[in-house]
Amino acid sequence: MIRRDQSHTLQVEALSSDGDGRADLDGVSVAVPGTLPGERVRVNIVAQSRHHPRAYATLLEIEKPSPHRREAACGHHGDCHGCAWMMTDEGAQREAKREMLRREFGLAVAEVVPAPESWGYRWSSKRVVGGRRGALRLGSYRRRSHELASMSHCLVDHPAIAEAARELEQVASELRIEPFDETTGEGQLRYAWIKANGAGEVLLTLITAKDSPQMDALAAALKLPIGVACCVQDQASNALRGTVLRHARGVEAIVVELLGQSVSVGPLGFLQPNPAVATLAYRELLEPATVVDSGLAYDLYAGMGVTTVALREQFAQVRACESFPESAARLDIEAQTAEDFLVTALACDENPAFVVANPPRAGMGPKVCASLSQCGRRGPLALNIMSCNPKSLSADLERLTVDGGFELVSLRAFDTLPQTPHVELVARLRAGA
Ligand SMILES: C[S@@+](CC[C@H](N)C(=O)[O-])C[C@H]1O[C@@H](n2cnc3c(N)ncnc32)[C@H](O)[C@@H]1O
Repeated sequence: MIRRDQSHTLQVEALSSDGDGRADLDGVSVAVPGTLPGERVRVNIVAQSRHHPRAYATLLEIEKPSPHRREAACGHHGDCHGCAWMMTDEGAQREAKREMLRREFGLAVAEVVPAPESWGYRWSSKRVVGGRRGALRLGSYRRRSHELASMSHCLVDHPAIAEAARELEQVASELRIEPFDETTGEGQLRYAWIKANGAGEVLLTLITAKDSPQMDALAAALKLPIGVACCVQDQASNALRGTVLRHARGVEAIVVELLGQSVSVGPLGFLQPNPAVATLAYRELLEPATVVDSGLAYDLYAGMGVTTVALREQFAQVRACESFPESAARLDIEAQTAEDFLVTALACDENPAFVVANPPRAGMGPKVCASLSQCGRRGPLALNIMSCNPKSLSADLERLTVDGGFELVSLRAFDTLPQTPHVELVARLRAGA
């Protein structure tokens, strides 16, 4: 048993998906935030799991630094956990991601494809509102807490987003808008969701606990967003999307260029956080692993429909599925879950030749995988999955390949959010071939 509050010298072996360095101490995996593979560090053990061979330590001293260590470029590094890997160079980050995929999730990739930009790449950014009336602040939750860490001058957000966040803080403070306090249920403004299109335009969604004319005053006073919408989220959860949405000022959607298409994204619509990397991943996603019939294709979790449009150039018929009503309406389809869509499609004896799926972080899950396996048993089927969550992708791949009749043909990883542990993955499978 490791004694708490005891210092040790450890050799850091890897970076984990939660951002921390990992070292071994007598068979116990010790998480040490702020450390890098290859470093010898002096740490203090502060907590140990009773149920798992895991412990948590704080860094006292780096005795031997990694050659890849560098000064973190952001003053909030360590307080804001968003860019946990900023203190190492991007090449070492990608190698750590490749190794993390193998160690933690059993996913083997030859490389992690670099992002065209390492800074200012994020076009969709969500901020938590905190501070107090007259001094409202935007940021993120500190790790394992609901205290606010500042994200002012965020270096990975597109500069137009950082500017719009700064303006929002200033104007909302001047108008004495009260930040929502989850402990008392008092206050109004909970979150801000800012989307950019890379051409200097931003769309702002104000998420509030209750609606009020003050939100219109705020929307009118803000000069930088080309459109502002208000969404009421009055539940106790951390959910961003509320149920009541209203347009407050300017345009109702922002137009984003993706894969050579002009796509319109509304106030609550999904926008890939890093469209430049998403474009690389989309190209892989749209390429079946095997030659397929050009009759029918499905686009599951279609979002704003970029892949739907691209698939229509290759297939005679493309059926899109999307559960969020705002996005489904833009695609001119009825909002439906992939679970229900596939059950109906199977009942109608449809035989798609190619299925593209880009599920949310939770992945596709057992029901969707079972339906896809049933499709694959009926005839040749190519299935490509794009995922931002290695854990859920790994579980879906197991469901599809162990008993589901699919064969994994290729797996590629893309550096979707440099400075962070996040990756985007594209798996290409085939069945019944
Ligand atoms: C990661 S996004 C991908 C969107 C789109 N393919 C893109 O690349 O922009 C996941 C999408 O799945 C939708 N979604 C979430 N759960 C779903 C479900 N059970 N069935 C269908 N769509 C779902 C979300 O609203 C979101 O638009």
